[in-house]
Amino acid sequence: MARQLLALVLLIAFAHGFTLRTWEQAYALANATVANLTLTEKVGLLAGVGQFRSRCVGNTTPVPRLGIPAICMNDGPAGIRLVKNVTGFPSGINTAATFSRRLMQARGQAMAEEFKGKGIHVLLGPAMDLMRNPKAGRAWESFGPDPYLTGEGAYYTIAGIQSVGVQACAKHLAANNQEHWRYGLSAIIDDRTMHEMYFYPFLRAIEANVTSMMCAYNQQNGTSSCHNAGLMGPNGLIRSAGFQGYVMSDWGATHDSVADNANAGLDMEQPGDNIVIGGGVFGTGGGNLANAVNGGSVNVTRLNQMAARVLAGYYKLGQETGYPAVNFDAQHSDGSGSLNLGVSVRSEAHTALVREIGAASAVLLKNNRTTTTGTPSGATTRGLPLVQSRIKSMAVIGLDATYPNLSCNDLNECNDGTMSIGWGSGSNSLAFIVPPIKAIQDFVGTSATITTSLNNDLNAGPAAAKGKDVCIVFGNAMSGELGFYSTVVGNMGDRNDLALWWREGSLIEAVAAVCSNTIAVIHSVGPVNLSWSQHPNITAIIYAGAPGEQTGPSLVDVLYGAVNPGGRLPYSIDENEASYGTTIVYNSLGFPVVNYTEQLLIDYRYMDSKNIVPHYEFGFGLSYTTFGYSNLKITSTGSGSSSSVTVTFVVANTGAFAGTEKPQLYLAYPASAGEPKRVLRGFDEVGPLAVGASQTVTMSISAREMSIWDVITQAWVRPSGTFTVTVGASINDVRLTGTF
Ligand SMILES: *[C@@H]1O[C@H](CO)[C@@H](O)[C@H](O)[C@H]1NC(C)=O
Ligand SMILES: *[C@@H]1O[C@H](CO)[C@@H](O)[C@H](O)[C@H]1NC(C)=O
Ligand SMILES: *[C@@H]1O[C@H](CO)[C@@H](O)[C@H](O)[C@H]1NC(C)=O
Ligand SMILES: *[C@@H]1O[C@H](CO)[C@@H](O)[C@H](O)[C@H]1NC(C)=O
Ligand SMILES: *[C@@H]1O[C@H](CO)[C@@H](O)[C@H](O)[C@H]1NC(C)=O
Ligand SMILES: *[C@@H]1O[C@H](CO)[C@@H](O)[C@H](O)[C@H]1NC(C)=O
Ligand SMILES: *[C@@H]1O[C@H](CO)[C@@H](O)[C@H](O)[C@H]1NC(C)=O
Ligand SMILES: *[C@@H]1O[C@H](CO)[C@@H](O)[C@H](O)[C@H]1NC(C)=O
Ligand SMILES: *[C@@H]1O[C@H](CO)[C@@H](O)[C@H](O)[C@H]1NC(C)=O
Ligand SMILES: *[C@@H]1O[C@H](CO)[C@@H](O)[C@H](O)[C@H]1NC(C)=O
Ligand SMILES: *[C@@H]1O[C@H](CO)[C@@H](O)[C@H](O)[C@H]1NC(C)=O
Repeated sequence: MARQLLALVLLIAFAHGFTLRTWEQAYALANATVANLTLTEKVGLLAGVGQFRSRCVGNTTPVPRLGIPAICMNDGPAGIRLVKNVTGFPSGINTAATFSRRLMQARGQAMAEEFKGKGIHVLLGPAMDLMRNPKAGRAWESFGPDPYLTGEGAYYTIAGIQSVGVQACAKHLAANNQEHWRYGLSAIIDDRTMHEMYFYPFLRAIEANVTSMMCAYNQQNGTSSCHNAGLMGPNGLIRSAGFQGYVMSDWGATHDSVADNANAGLDMEQPGDNIVIGGGVFGTGGGNLANAVNGGSVNVTRLNQMAARVLAGYYKLGQETGYPAVNFDAQHSDGSGSLNLGVSVRSEAHTALVREIGAASAVLLKNNRTTTTGTPSGATTRGLPLVQSRIKSMAVIGLDATYPNLSCNDLNECNDGTMSIGWGSGSNSLAFIVPPIKAIQDFVGTSATITTSLNNDLNAGPAAAKGKDVCIVFGNAMSGELGFYSTVVGNMGDRNDLALWWREGSLIEAVAAVCSNTIAVIHSVGPVNLSWSQHPNITAIIYAGAPGEQTGPSLVDVLYGAVNPGGRLPYSIDENEASYGTTIVYNSLGFPVVNYTEQLLIDYRYMDSKNIVPHYEFGFGLSYTTFGYSNLKITSTGSGSSSSVTVTFVVANTGAFAGTEKPQLYLAYPASAGEPKRVLRGFDEVGPLAVGASQTVTMSISAREMSIWDVITQAWVRPSGTFTVTVGASINDVRLTGTF
């Protein structure tokens, strides 16, 4: 796999016309350049030029005499923000729901093609903070609560981004797990929990050769992340794990003296001035850093190291040759003032990819399909997929089915139409969206009458639904980043609860009371209360997440069966918040200490430990077909840190539709290891498999993936004893079991 990936990366690098270098080669160039820089030039590379003073959300000072441009950084993890006429990609959480490394990498590459087209050097993503609590405001930017799935999401996203010569920025180091109080709360995370949970995705990012990381707003152990040597110092987490790139601050996440930050391991400060909550430590353009070097509190060796790290990222991806000049203005949303919007970087291929990921991440939670016999025109079908020739009347109900206000602040801070992405710096600045109603109308044409009620009116919705062959009713839940501006309908970034917004649960129930073929579609950033799911008139539920701008077409693809829904839940869904075992600290007198006492037990790991069976479990998702599993074989080779285990089995399509299965491998450690009962350690995308077809699946478990973090020896250690492997269609839908 690694060799194939390297070959692919080199091939893509060649196709995109840049020189991909090893770290060694990059540092040879970086060191030579640093030797040639003045103090002023060095600090100019290490500090931002000030917020709103230049085009990108982050900028360094150029060195024209050596041809080094201002290094341009821009949000964010789901496409270029603050610029119109770019593609609105799916959220990280939907990408996780595909359980497809192929799509994780393809999304990273497609996003980066657009960043490069605009001349942006650093894509500020992927976000990889775990969903410690389901209400965490920014969790949708990332890949869910499971560290292994998040690690794979991080690795393949970075591989995709950097394959076209754009730098990725792994964020946020570390544990930016709630929005309330994030500017100073102190996370207390023990060493083992940090390594196995919150740091694990960063380890995978390092293995993907990520060139930069971003330190978080919050503190660790009472010390700001951006001057925390435990995270960034020579013996801290990331350097001990072999990270060779640079660390930049989150915007305004720096506090205290220049030396506190620089000597603890911070390499670059952004955006370069004080933005209310912090920042400006190095001085706009780096003047304070220069003074610190002249005064001796930061030594020249360290200064040179900082500059070399920044330049190494730039040289590693060959950005010194042929990189497009910045050709947009990110500091104002488009449409106001005189802006150079630059060329459109939307492409048909990217649109198709967004649509593909949207359908591949749609999770079919329920399907009670029944078909009456008779001639095709006389027969009726309830549930999914819909059969166009058998539907004469249809109702489409709910605010979430229609166009949102695409000009609702720079940060998408409204929920007034379909929810395709959350708000904040991880959002898109959509110029373009195809909402469900548009895609349904286009597809249905004149084959059926469509009655709409595109609001959440509890009388109009059922009135539209009455007597229809099928009623599609929408509900959503949104969250986002703690803004510098406002809360959204009382939600300060983190959601207040797990309810659908705007009483949409009541709307769904009111529609189901009058329509015996009700299809519920949920657009949500995370788990929501689905207490109505057993209603007998609700024949199907599609959990479509936050799928990006092609939300309508990707939904139509799964509604009508052009695509068999491929999404699996990247978290557990339960209406009871207590089932998750963690809380968001909302109320506090000053910045709170948040003690991660649950340690390794979040989401399904906690539920397992308490024998809680959630409403819908981690990894769950139905298909229009059925899959059979057989022939489990487990081969163990080597021992200790050089061991590995290979698991093979066969997946067969045993139903009546072609479809793609997402088999998952869970590992139960020997009891002495002190691990959760079961942990995800493998998944794959198998298919599309034609009816009757089968495929052998191979999953490898590396020594580290069978290890625990041993705090005494400070190493990954494989516990001795018997491991149990379960393979199945979700954590609870176990099909095959074996041991080694
Ligand atoms: C770059 O310089 C640093 C600091 O002097 C040194 O440790 C490193 O080996 C050099 N790397 C290369 C490739 O020259
Ligand atoms: C150093 O700068 C000089 C002149 O400014 C230039 O001729 C030389 O190529 C530079 N060397 C490097 C490694 O950038
Ligand atoms: C990371 O770099 C190493 C060494 O250059 C290479 O073997 C590996 O394939 C790279 N990984 C990715 C994801 O580019
Ligand atoms: C925080 O303190 C705990 C307990 O001493 C320690 O295990 C952990 O490594 C520290 N974290 C950091 C980032 O220094
Ligand atoms: C320079 O500063 C760093 C960070 O404080 C320190 O680790 C290192 O020992 C210093 N080096 C010299 C040569 O003084
Ligand atoms: C978006 O790009 C298209 C070309 O693809 C162009 O016709 C249109 O004017 C652009 N719109 C803006 C706002 O730049
Ligand atoms: C409806 O489907 C769900 C799963 O999709 C299943 O658990 C339930 O038994 C079905 N009910 C009927 C009446 O078929
Ligand atoms: C969209 O939101 C913007 C910003 O809040 C507001 O000025 C504008 O009136 C809204 N447009 C519509 C059609 O509601
Ligand atoms: C299901 O829908 C029918 C109308 O088609 C209605 O008569 C019936 O009461 C509904 N069932 C429930 C449980 O609401
Ligand atoms: C879930 O929502 C239903 C109403 O839609 C409500 O009655 C119930 O209390 C909610 N469950 C929880 C645990 O909040
Ligand atoms: C955090 O919780 C652990 C385990 O309950 C406890 O030992 C420790 O004292 C707590 N730390 C703080 C700062 O509350």
